[in-house]
Amino acid sequence: MKRVAATFLLVEGSARAILGFYTLAAASVQLFDLPPRTAKRLPKYPYVPATLLGRLAVDRRARGRRYGELLLLDALAKSLAASEAVASALVIVDAKDVAARSFYERYEFLPLPESPNRLFLPMQLVAALLRQ
Ligand SMILES: CC(C)(COP(=O)(O)OP(=O)(O)OC[C@H]1O[C@@H](n2cnc3c(N)ncnc32)[C@H](O)[C@@H]1OP(=O)(O)O)[C@@H](O)C(=O)NCCC(=O)NCCS
Repeated sequence: MKRVAATFLLVEGSARAILGFYTLAAASVQLFDLPPRTAKRLPKYPYVPATLLGRLAVDRRARGRRYGELLLLDALAKSLAASEAVASALVIVDAKDVAARSFYERYEFLPLPESPNRLFLPMQLVAALLRQ
């Protein structure tokens, strides 16, 4: 196992058909790439530990049934739980296009000012989102 990303599948029925998946990996973000409001709440180290939600997708035939939301909330819950053992201040995601970006923005992800297809959600907000 190369351990460059952990992949989680959503499967259905005895045939174990794959409905969707996501990947998680350890990552980091440069402090100065974050918006000033977020950066000023963090210690002044050059890199901020983060969890990368590398890819999340739902099979075309299964879209619109809230599986995307289920996968995203599961990914956020796993990221939060893992951050208790190995600190991570943010979840980051690379949206592949405008549609993907608007999906994440629904869940309060914000774009990095200089790389708008990379979005982030502070782990404190992940905790708040999961408490709702
Ligand atoms: C984006 C994607 C994961 C959404 O999955 P889904 O199962 O169809 O979405 P859900 O049914 O869980 O939708 C949950 C909510 O998000 C909304 N939504 C879904 N796709 C959206 C999009 N592209 N933009 C904005 N909102 C979106 C839904 O309308 C729903 O809103 P509601 O709470 O008002 O009802 C899916 O379309 C997909 O796999 N796309 C291709 C890959 C991709 O873009 N992945 C993300 C980035 S890598």
